Formats: sequence, C-alpha cells, structure tokens
Amino acid sequence: MVYQVYPRSFLDTNGDGIGDLPGIEQRLDHLSWLGIDTVWISPFYRSPMADFGYDVSDYCDVDPLFGTLADADRLITAAHQRGIRVLIDWVPNHTSDRHPWFIESRSSRSSPKRDWYHWRDGRGSAPPNNWRSVFGGPAWTLDDATGQWFLHLFLAEQPDLNWSNPEVVDAMHQVLRFWLDRGIDGFRIDVVHCIGKDPVFADQPAALGEIDRVGIQNESVTHELIRGFRRLVDGYPGERTTVGEVNLGDLSSIGSFYGHGDELHLVFNFLPLYAPWTRAAWQDMIERVEREFPPGAWPTWVLSNHDVRRVRTRLGSEHAARAAAVISTTQRGTPFVYQGDELALEDAVVPERRRVDPGGRDGCRAPIPWEPDRSHGWPSAPWLPWPPHADTRNAASQRANPRSMLHLYRDLLAARRASPALRRGMVRLLDAPGDVLAYERVSGEDRRLVLVNFGEQAAHVPLAEHWQVEVASASQPDAGSLPPHAAALLRPSA
Ligand code: GLC
Ligand code: CA
Repeated sequence: MVYQVYPRSFLDTNGDGIGDLPGIEQRLDHLSWLGIDTVWISPFYRSPMADFGYDVSDYCDVDPLFGTLADADRLITAAHQRGIRVLIDWVPNHTSDRHPWFIESRSSRSSPKRDWYHWRDGRGSAPPNNWRSVFGGPAWTLDDATGQWFLHLFLAEQPDLNWSNPEVVDAMHQVLRFWLDRGIDGFRIDVVHCIGKDPVFADQPAALGEIDRVGIQNESVTHELIRGFRRLVDGYPGERTTVGEVNLGDLSSIGSFYGHGDELHLVFNFLPLYAPWTRAAWQDMIERVEREFPPGAWPTWVLSNHDVRRVRTRLGSEHAARAAAVISTTQRGTPFVYQGDELALEDAVVPERRRVDPGGRDGCRAPIPWEPDRSHGWPSAPWLPWPPHADTRNAASQRANPRSMLHLYRDLLAARRASPALRRGMVRLLDAPGDVLAYERVSGEDRRLVLVNFGEQAAHVPLAEHWQVEVASASQPDAGSLPPHAAALLRPSA
C-alpha cells in the first residue's frame, strides 16, 4: 500500500504552523505500526507556493519551509531503516514562473531557452487558441515585454515546459537522476498525460467541454517521453517505481499509459473518486479494470488525495468510508491512502477568510491531528483549521481504540500482507443478492471472500456459509449477515 503524505499538513516541528520533513521523520514509527510499505510525499522542492509546491523553482533543492536537503537524506534513510520505500512527487509538465529556466526564457525572443516553454503569437489581441486553464481563465498569458503568449494549463505562475525540446528532456532526466542517486525509490509523476503537445495547438472542440482536453491530452509523443523515463528509472539498481497521474475519464486511455510494460509501472485510476456509492457502480469499475487494462497492468485503487473531497466527506458517513477501505485494500492492485483517511477524517470547514488554495481544495488539506488535546501534537496553530472532531479523530485516541478506523486499516493491511490471494491473486465477481457486492480473490490454494453491503438494510448472504470473518468494517452477527453500509473480508472456515 502507498500512503500519501501532504507535507504541509502532516506535522510541524519548528512552530511555523507548516508541516516539514523532520515532522514526517518523527512519525515514521506510526506509519510502520500501521503497516505502510511505501510513502509518496507531495512536493517539497523550492517553490513560491502559488500552487503549494506544484510550482517548482528548483527541482534539486528543498524549500526552506520544509527543511533542507540534509533533512531529506535523513528522512529517506530513516524510512529505509523501517522498510518503508519513498516516492517523491515529480512535476514535469510545468515549472514555476520563478524558475531560472522560465526567467531566462521570458527575457527575450532570442533567449537560448525561449523554446523551453510554449511561446506563441496571439490571434490579434486574443490568445493563440481557446484553451482554458484548469484554475479558470485562458491557458495563455501575454508577456508584455516580448509581445508573445506563454501556455499554462494551470496557473499563470505554472508555465508549461516544451517537452519537444531535447534540452528540456535532458535537463529533466538530470532531475530524476539527482533524486535516484540520493536513494529514493521512485516518483509520483504529476499530470504526466499532459506533457506532450501537438504543436498545431488546435482549438479545443466545443464538444469536449471547457477544460476536458481529452482529445489532445493523450499524444503519442507523451508515451514516447514516458518510455524514456522508464528506461532511465529501470537503469537503477533495486526496485524503483513510477506512478503517473493520468487524469482521464476512461479506463482504456488510462490503461494505455502502462504501455507494453515499458511505460509507467502504475497509473492512477481516479474513477473511484467520482463513483456513486452503489453496488452497480463499484462492480462495474472492478469488471472494467479487469477487461479494459492491458494484460500485465497492475491497477491502482485511489479513494482520496489532496485535490478532491475526502472519501468520508464524499460518501457521507464513517460506515461507508470503512466499507470503502475494505474494498480498496482487498482489490487486485495497489491501494493508495491519503493521509488522514486512516483516521476517517472529514474535510475541514474553512471559513472564507482562511481559504488559500486557488483550486478551492483547502478542506481536504487540513492538518493531521496527532493528539486529543487542543494543540493536537502541533507546536503552534497550523496554517489551516482542524478537521471536525479532532478531539477523537486523532492518531493517539484511535490507536487506543481497537474499534477505530485506524485499527481497521491496520487489520486490513496485516490481512493483505499475510494472504497471497489478496496480495496478487485474481479477482472473481460472484452473484449476490440486491445491494451486495461479492468477490473472491484466489491464488493457488489461498482464497478470500469479500462482501460489501451498499444498502440501507441489513443483508443476508447465503454464499458465506463456509467462511468466517477475518476483518469486518462493522460488527456482524455471523459471516453472512452484513449491517447496512458494511463490508467484510472472509477466509475459509477452519
Ligand atoms: C496535479 C496535482 C495538483 C496540482 C496540479 C498542477 O493535479 O495533484 O495538486 O494543482 O497537478 O500541478
Ligand atoms: Ca514547519
């Protein structure tokens, strides 16, 4: 399982209200206790923080807010000592507008780095095409001094790199090497599906909607660039991994980013983030992943991240969030857990005057409460308000309570580690009544059965007759009797 750390909100150690790398190091024992084997850390590079670190001004240094390169080295070593692998977030699509590359590129039309970014003439006084930025407004900004427009799919402070320039490819490969040489185990690659661009820059067809550039976000050149990353990463000893953020809506496009085992090791599948909480929707996703991914592609299961509402907030109850945890940890594929979901946190309610994110994502980025007292284990007030009920939904209180979400996650991860069927077995969907989703995982002699009741009523499932409960999201009278919005992992009765 991969655990996503959003460093600003994990734990502060120096009292500036912002989480930092030493804060992650301090709580590694908590992550090992939970049974995490890999962490992905959201960006901690030098950054003006227009997009809280996804606007990078130096890929080979740590922002002073988060610590130093020495802190990063210490964190990597400390994680490895506990058998935890470390993935860092790499942002190849764009830099910060304060990155020396962009400052140089912007300086004149004849700059040697002009072509490192996408510069175009306008159409009269209008931008070069009709693309919109993900954060609103046109995806182009006019640079008055040189009279040309530069492309930014995100904020104007995040100009897009021109990956058709081999110098950009080289410079970015050096960034990968810099971190691989420091011992990291791989990269989560930010919006990797966007890096290649058709140089024609055709207008977005109206039929595809405002910013859903599906038709122009899956360029063959992107796949070629990814194969280049893969060769580089595979050239390193040990098991190094790439996981790509491919924010596309259909599974066969998502699946295409695995290539023929020569592109990304893992690709985010975000469909569960938008799926309604019904048996039909979840069964359909499981079936389609099996059908539409290329052979050998290892799926991912994502319930939340720093860009969307938390799973508990979205599903509306702790019961459903607990059942979803059972589903994601018992699928064929790697589960991703966003920090705080293991505590069943909800999004914080952030009053208008404290909102800071240009994408309106502050709620899910609230700080992690570690202790029940009012400071929740932080040395001073953090940058965002606490999530609701932090007096009970905090790490210490839940560690002391065997019925907590935290223990549920720990039990699920332990069960997964112990069972070859759960770790790597095939998945087989079974017939079950009404609102119950049922599937089996099988590897050789090892088998597990998972039952999920999406309904408002308790359900009885006869097929559980020769099974016993291994882990359940809610207490249930017997293996086949599921309360509403509950899930159970079953093993064959002895
Ligand atoms: C990804 C990140 C998001 C960021 C965007 C631009 O979607 O997850 O947080 O704003 O890319 O880098
Ligand atoms: Ca700090």
